[in-house]
Formats: sequence, C-alpha cells, structure tokens
Amino acid sequence: MPPHNVIQTPESRGIPQAEEFHKRIPLTNRKMSTEAPTIPLLTPYKMGKFNLSHRLVLAPLTRMKSYNNVPQPHALLYYSQRTSKGGLLISEATGVSDTAQGYPHTPGIWTKEQVEAWKPILNAVHAKGGIFFCQIWHCGRVSNQDFQPNGQAPISSTDKPLTSHDNGEQFTPPRRLRTDEISLVVNDFRLAARNAIEAGFDGVEIHGAHGYLIDQFLKDQVNDRTDEYGGSLENRCRFAIEVVEAVSNEIGADRVGIRLSPFANYAECEDSNPEALGLHMAESLNRYSILYCHVVEPRMKTLGEKTECPQSLVPMRNAFNNTFLVAGGYDREDGSKAVVENRTDLVVYGRLFLANPDLPRRFELNAPLNKYNRDTFYSPGSIIGYTDYPFLETTT
Ligand SMILES: Cc1cc2nc3c(=O)[nH]c(=O)nc-3n(C[C@H](O)[C@H](O)[C@H](O)COP(=O)(O)O)c2cc1C
Repeated sequence: MPPHNVIQTPESRGIPQAEEFHKRIPLTNRKMSTEAPTIPLLTPYKMGKFNLSHRLVLAPLTRMKSYNNVPQPHALLYYSQRTSKGGLLISEATGVSDTAQGYPHTPGIWTKEQVEAWKPILNAVHAKGGIFFCQIWHCGRVSNQDFQPNGQAPISSTDKPLTSHDNGEQFTPPRRLRTDEISLVVNDFRLAARNAIEAGFDGVEIHGAHGYLIDQFLKDQVNDRTDEYGGSLENRCRFAIEVVEAVSNEIGADRVGIRLSPFANYAECEDSNPEALGLHMAESLNRYSILYCHVVEPRMKTLGEKTECPQSLVPMRNAFNNTFLVAGGYDREDGSKAVVENRTDLVVYGRLFLANPDLPRRFELNAPLNKYNRDTFYSPGSIIGYTDYPFLETTT
C-alpha cells in the first residue's frame, strides 16, 4: 500500500523517450543456462475464452502516475513493456467513482475522459497479444477528505476511524454508509465495469482485498454493522457478492475476477476467522461462475514482506470451481512448484514484474533478475523506476 504523504508534484521531466524503451542491457558475464527447459509456469493455460501462453500474471500495482486520476501516455509504455503474447496483465487499482480515491494520482474509470485515456493503452497491450483486466476499487475509509468531493468524509461499512500512522499518513474518520446507500456503491462498480469494457479491457478484477471498501465489509474486526450487511459471515459477504452479481450481469461472468486477502491485516482490516471467510467466499462465488478467484497468500499478512505461516490457500483453491490465481512472495521456483502441485492455475508476480518487464523470458532462460527499488514504487512526479528497468539483450 502506498504512503499517504507523498508529494503531489507531477512533472514531465525524466520521462524517457520511446527509443530508450528499446535499450537492452548486454548479457555478457552473466551466468545463464543456454538450455531452456520448459518450466511449469511457462506452459499454456486456457482461462475461459482466453488462451494464455503461460501462467505468469502481472499483479495489480498502484504507481500513482495518473495525474488527476487520468491515465497518462507513460502508462502505455509501462504496460506494453510488460506485455507478452498470450500473457495476462491486471491493471493498477482503478477508482470506480469520485469517492473511491485514497491516494494521489491513481487512475479512475468513471469519466469519459478516463475511458478515452485508457483506450490507447489497451490498444498497445492488445497489439502485442496481451490480455488485460482492469482492477476496479473503492478505498473506503483508507482515504482522507482531501481526496473526497467537497471535502466530505470517506465512506465505509463503519464509522470507526483508522489510526494515523507514524509515517505521517492521515485518515479522516469515515462515514458509515446507510443501508439504502449501499446499492448506489454497487452500481458504481457496475458502471465502472461497463466503462472498462468500453475502454477495451478484456475483463475486470473486483478489488476485494487489502483493507479497502469491500474488505471493510468482509472482515469482522472492522464491520460493526447491525443491518443485513453486518454480523453473520453471510451478511458481511453480502456487499462483495452484490458487486460480483451486478458486475457479472453487466459484462458477463466470463469476464469477471475478484481479488481477496482473507488472511491479510492491511489497513487495520483483519478477520477473526480468515479460513472460514475465505472458504465462504470461494463457495459463494461459485454461484455466479465468475472467471477467476485471485487470492493473496497468508504469508503476506503484513505489507511488503513474506513470513512463513501454517495457513494455506488450498481449501479455497479446492472449493472454487474456476481459475485460481495466487499472489504474494513468489519466485521462479516456488511459483513452478505451486503449479506442479496443483495449488493454483496461475501465479501473480508483483515486485519482480515491476522490476523485470520481460519476466516471462527471464524465467524461461533462468536469467538473472533486476532488483526492484522500493524508493521508486510510488513517486508521482517521476518515471524513474517505472519505465526504465532494463530488458535482457535480444539474442535472437
Ligand atoms: C508498488 C506496489 C503497488 C501495489 N498496488 C496494488 C494494487 O493496486 N492493487 C492490489 O490489489 N495490490 C497491490 N499491490 C500488491 C501486489 O499486487 C502484490 O500482491 C504484492 O506485491 C505481493 O506480491 P509480490 O511478492 O509478487 O510483490 C501493490 C504492491 C506494490 C509493491
């Protein structure tokens, strides 16, 4: 999750010219196998109507470079760099409405201008044979009034505020949604999905993870409602399921995925029984036959680092009928192992893909990887660490 206290000073200085995109670093002196045995991650997979040529997926990665919530031309370069023929990409979290934001310069998909700005990005990804899903989100209480229309309070399942953190993040106490308002937010997700398809996305991923609005309904340590959206497991999952249903009815369940993180505790959003929550969601989703369920590993309980833990996503994987995606701390070896052991269909890579635009090729060749630079994950005013990570030299 990006920090809230970043400076909002977009500037075009430092944006690389198109020819820099084609720069390649030489492989001289690198230890690399010349043989390229097929690893399980690089075997094809049919996800509904989409023929994937391999099982590596670009994770949704917020980069905060969409000035005034409008995707910029540099995003075209960024995403097309990470596109491979038959590869699946998931976009950075993209706001469903003007109340959805919690960070500066995150893209949206609720205005015509935003839809138009996404189109050339989609064209570039499709021209290279990629399959591109839009992650649609609402931050809920992980926000402050500066991001809200008319300086109003952010909305949530609750009126319990997040505590401010030492690093200077500021959150405005949220306003609890009235029961009769919830269908309006569901409708925002529906319209955002419609807009995503209009922009050219192949489908949408509903962001139900990481402590944002949907997760604020799912988790019992946050959701303190007494209406039909709070209390029992079924009630807490109701909002998420209504979003899934509305979006599926709008664009077709065969173009809908969802991301969940039942085990995570980001943004003070934790559940007392994540196993039951995950299983209940997996089983409930089957009623709608959505395309995929994408789940963050329990080992990513806290942001950024993996810690080994006894919990596993296997019960959710077994309960869910369609394509299963896992994310969180994967490398070449344990990603392959997860596929071989049938613990997942696809493996989602975040930081490694951020720093290695040609990650599938590097995995194929077992080539060394660029190291990611945390300092440049979220710097809105600069594209350093965005489109300038080097590719392997073209050897063919
Ligand atoms: C810079 C950055 C931005 C992220 N933005 C998002 C986001 O927009 N949506 C989301 O669901 N997860 C987001 N995440 C989490 C990643 O999708 C992923 O789950 C996480 O990095 C763990 O995977 P990894 O170990 O392969 O990096 C972000 C992570 C990073 C490092």
